[in-house]
Amino acid sequence: MRILSIETSCDETAMAILDISGSLSNPKIKIIKDIVASQIKLHAKFGGVVPNLAKREHLKNLPILLSKVVTSEKYIKSIDVIAVTVGPGLEPALWTGIQFAKDLSKKWKKPIIGVNHLSGHLYSFLLSPKSKKRKIFPAISLIVSGGHTILAYMKNSGGYEKLGETLDDAVGESFDKVARLLNLPYPGGPALEKLAQKGNEKAIPFPSPMINQNNYDFSYSGLKTSVLYYLKNLGSTAKDFSLSLSDKKSLKKIESQKNLKADIAASFQRAAFAAPVKKTLAAAKKLKARSILIGGGVAANRMLPKMMRAEIKSKDLDIEVIVPPLKYCMDNAVMIALASRLQPKNRKKYPLRADGNLSL
Ligand code: KG4
Ligand code: ZN
Repeated sequence: MRILSIETSCDETAMAILDISGSLSNPKIKIIKDIVASQIKLHAKFGGVVPNLAKREHLKNLPILLSKVVTSEKYIKSIDVIAVTVGPGLEPALWTGIQFAKDLSKKWKKPIIGVNHLSGHLYSFLLSPKSKKRKIFPAISLIVSGGHTILAYMKNSGGYEKLGETLDDAVGESFDKVARLLNLPYPGGPALEKLAQKGNEKAIPFPSPMINQNNYDFSYSGLKTSVLYYLKNLGSTAKDFSLSLSDKKSLKKIESQKNLKADIAASFQRAAFAAPVKKTLAAAKKLKARSILIGGGVAANRMLPKMMRAEIKSKDLDIEVIVPPLKYCMDNAVMIALASRLQPKNRKKYPLRADGNLSL
C-alpha cells in the first residue's frame, strides 16, 4: 500500500510517501519521501501561531512540497491512497490540506482517508527502532503536545481506550506560556528545556496539580499561575518577568541570585512532568503494560523519558519507555500515513471536513 500523506494542522506543512505492508499488528514501514516545511521563523515574530498566516503559508507550500515528493506522471500511478489530517488543529490551516487532498483525489482518481492528528502521535512510536525489538502490547500511551495531554491504554496495535486527559491547558501550552513569562523565544518548549538544563529543579516547589488524585486526568493552568505569581512576587510592580527585569528593585534581587531564571525553568519542568510520570506509571502497573509510548511535541524533551525511566528503575519494574526519534515527536506527515492504516476509527471513516476539536 503506497500512501501520500498531508499534514497542515498547525505551523508545519508536511508531506510524505510511505509504503506500508504486512499485518496491522506487525506493519512493515518504508519511508520513501518525508518533507516538513516549518513556519517557526514566521510566527516567532508574533510570539505564537497566527492562524491566517499559517493558512497562507500552507497554500504557498503545498504545491512546492508536492513537486518534491511526486516527481513524474508515472509515479502518480503507484500511489494507492491520499491521507490527510482533518483535526484537531487550526481550522483555516486544516482546510488548506483537506482541499488540496480533495483536488488531487479528483485529478488523480485516488481515494482519500481523513486522519486524526492525535492518532498520528499515538502511532509515531512505530518509528522508533526499539518498537521492533520486543513485545510492545499491552501499552500505555502518553500524548503530550501543544494542544493535548492524553493518557490512553492500547491493548494491541489496533485499538486504544482513552484513560484521561487534561482538564484545562495542555502541557506543551504551559511550556509555551511559561517560556513567554520568562521572556524566552517562541516556540517556548525547546528554549525552556535548554535553560532548565542549567537550573536546579528543586529550587522552587511549584505544585503539580492533581498529582495525588486517584484518576488519570491532568491540569496545567494552576502551575502556570503559580509561576506567574512567583515572578510577580519578585518585584512589587512587575507584571511579568520581562517587566521585572526592567524593574530596578527586582532586577537587583534577580541578579543577587545568579541562576534564578534557570532555576525557575528547571523547577517548572519538574513540576510539569511529575504528574504525567506518576499517572502513566500507575496506569502501566495497574493494566500490566509492557511498555510506555510517548508521542507529541513535548516528547522531544529528554527530561520526560529520563524521569519516567528513573521511576521505573526505582520501582524495579520491567517496562520499556519508547519515544520516537526527535523529528517524529514534532508534527510530520509520516505519522499521518501510519495512522491512516492503523487508526481503528478509520474503519468508521472521518468525514473530510476540518474539525478543530476532534478528540482521540
Ligand atoms: O505535537 P506538536 O509539534 O504540535 C501539536 O500537535 O500541538 O507539539 C508542539 C508543542 C509546543 O507546545 C512546544 O513548545 C512543545 O510541543 N515542545 C516542547 C519541546 N519541543 C516542543 N516542550 C517541551 N520541551 C521540548 N523540548
Ligand atoms: Zn501535533
